[in-house]
Amino acid sequence: MDFMTLLDKKAQTAQDTVYSLLPKEEGLQKGIIEAMNYSMRSGGKRLRPLFIQEFYNLLSKENINEDALRRFMAAIEMIHTYSLVHDDLPAMDDDELRRGMPTTHVKFGYAAAILAGDGLLNYAYEVASESFNEKNDIQTVARAIKILAKKPGISGMLGGQAVDVENDDKTLDEQTLNFIYELKTGALLEASMMIGAVLAGADDSQVEKVEKIASYVGMAFQIQDDILDVTGDAKEIGKPVNSDEKNNKTTYVTLYGVDKASQIVASLSNKAVNLLDELDVVNRDSYEFIKELFIYLIHRNK
Ligand code: IPE
Ligand code: IPE
Ligand code: MG
Ligand code: MG
Ligand code: MG
Repeated sequence: MDFMTLLDKKAQTAQDTVYSLLPKEEGLQKGIIEAMNYSMRSGGKRLRPLFIQEFYNLLSKENINEDALRRFMAAIEMIHTYSLVHDDLPAMDDDELRRGMPTTHVKFGYAAAILAGDGLLNYAYEVASESFNEKNDIQTVARAIKILAKKPGISGMLGGQAVDVENDDKTLDEQTLNFIYELKTGALLEASMMIGAVLAGADDSQVEKVEKIASYVGMAFQIQDDILDVTGDAKEIGKPVNSDEKNNKTTYVTLYGVDKASQIVASLSNKAVNLLDELDVVNRDSYEFIKELFIYLIHRNK
C-alpha cells in the first residue's frame, strides 16, 4: 500500500476510535453536547490520536493496555479540538472557518463555544480516567494521565497560547517565538507520542527521547502552519488564510520569509527522523510509516 493510502486508512481508524467515545447528546444540557460533537465531527487530520497509536505500535512488545490506548486517543483529540474552538473565538484569533465548517461560535454563539471548549477539555479526562479498570495496567495509566494533565496546561499548550495572544501586534524575536511554538503546538504533539510510548511500556529514558523527537516535529508543524496561512488554499486547509496577518502576528514567515521558513521545517523534520534511530524499535513497519509521516508533514498542504 502506498503511503498516502496507508495514512488515510490509519487516520480513518483513529477517527473511528475517537467517534466511538464521544458523549451522548442527551439530557437538558443536550445543546452543549451537540456543540462539542459538532467541532469533533467536522473533520481534521486526526494526527494526535494517530501519533498515540503509531508510537504505541512502534514500541509495544505485546499488545498491552489497548483499552487505555483507545481512551487516550479520544482524549487527546478532544483537548486539541477544545484548543481550536477557543483559538477561533473573537477574543483570540477571531476566525470563522475551521475544518471546512463555520467555527463553533459562529454556529452556536459565544457562550456555547466557550462552554463547548470547556466541556471537551473536561470530558477528555473523564474518558481517559475510565482507563483505571482491570483491562489496563494501573501504574501505566497513571503515568499517561500525568502527561495528559501537564502538557495541555500552563507549562504547555495553554501557556503558549497565552503568550501568543498577549503578543499580537508586537514584533517578537526568534527566541520568544520558539518558546510560543514549543508550548502552543509542541506540547500536545509531545503528549501524543509520549503517551503512545508509555502505554506501550517504554521506560523513562525512551519516553524522554520520544519527547525530544516530538518537540522537533512540533516546531516544524507550527512553522509549516504559518507557511500555509500565507501560501495555503482555504478550501484545502479548511480555515481562513492570512489570519496571522490580520492579527499582526510575528511568525516564522514574517521573520524569515516562506523559502527560509520551509528550509527550517525540513531541517527540524530531518532531525526528528534521525532521532527515531535511537529508540528501541519493535515494529519496523511502524518505524517506516512514522519516518514517512514526518517527511510528508514537511510538504503538507493542509
Ligand atoms: C491546527 O492543528 C493547530 C495547530 C497546532 C497548528 P492541526 O493542523 O492538526 O488541525 P486539525 O486537527 O487537522 O484540524
Ligand atoms: C494555534 O496556532 C495552536 C493552538 C494551540 C490552537 P494557530 O492559531 O496558528 O492555529 P490555527 O492556524 O488557527 O489552526
Ligand atoms: Mg492562534
Ligand atoms: Mg488560530
Ligand atoms: Mg495558524
